[in-house]
Amino acid sequence: MLLAKAAITGTASAEMQVLSQRLAASGVAQTTRFAFSEQGSPSLREVLRTLADDGFEDVLLLPLLLPMEPGFRVWIARSVERWRATEPQRPWPAVRIAPSPAETDAMDALLRELIEAARDAQVPPEMRQSVPQGSVVPPQKRRVLVCQGGPCNDAGAALIWGHLRNEQKRLNLRTGGDGVMSCKTTCLGPCNLAPVLQVFPEGTYYGGVDEAGVDRIIARHLCRGEVAEELAYLPLASRQVLR
Ligand code: FES
Repeated sequence: MLLAKAAITGTASAEMQVLSQRLAASGVAQTTRFAFSEQGSPSLREVLRTLADDGFEDVLLLPLLLPMEPGFRVWIARSVERWRATEPQRPWPAVRIAPSPAETDAMDALLRELIEAARDAQVPPEMRQSVPQGSVVPPQKRRVLVCQGGPCNDAGAALIWGHLRNEQKRLNLRTGGDGVMSCKTTCLGPCNLAPVLQVFPEGTYYGGVDEAGVDRIIARHLCRGEVAEELAYLPLASRQVLR
C-alpha cells in the first residue's frame, strides 16, 4: 500500500491512483492500493478494512513521506492496534512498514533525475503575479484546535486530524450551522491526556480522542452546542489522568 500524508484536492488523489497503477504494473505485489495517513480519501483505516475483508493477511506500507518523522512508525502501529481492539471480529492483516524513501539507494538517482528534469524549467506565470489578491475574512464561529505536539503525535493526532477534516468536508460543517474551522496547533498543555483537541468559543478540552471520539464531538458539540462530557476535561487546579 502506497501511503501519502494528505490530499486536499482530487488532483492529488488522482496522482496517487497513477502511482498505484504503476506499482501494480510492475508485478511486485499481489495487489496494490493507496491511502492517506491524515486528510484525504481513502484513509489508511478504510483501506486496511477492505484488505482485511478481502482476506489479505499481510500488508506492506510504502510511506511516501519526506521527511519521515521518527514517531510515524510508532503511531501507525498503535493506531492499527487500536482499530484491532475496537473491531475484534475483523481479521486485521499484519502490517509492516518499508523504509523511508530517503533511506534507499534509489534516492540518489531520483534526485539526479529531478535536477536534470528541472534544468530547463520556466518560472510559472502565476509566480510572477505581484497584484495583491485580497482575502475574505471567514465568518465561522467555531474553531477546533488539534494538537500536533510530540506526545499527541505519538498518540495518533495526525489520524485524528485527518478524520476531523474528512468529516468536516463530508458533513459540510464549514458553512453549515455556526460554521466550523479547524487548525493544527503546537502543545495545548495537558500532554498526558493525548491526543488532545480543544473546541472554541467555549475552549473545551477533549482528551484521549480517537476517530469515534471525533464523531461524538462533531455530533454533539459542533452540531448541537453540547459538550461531550465523557471526553471533556475541565480546567481544574489538580492533575487529571485519562479516564
Ligand atoms: S503535546 Fe498535545 S497537549 Fe501537549
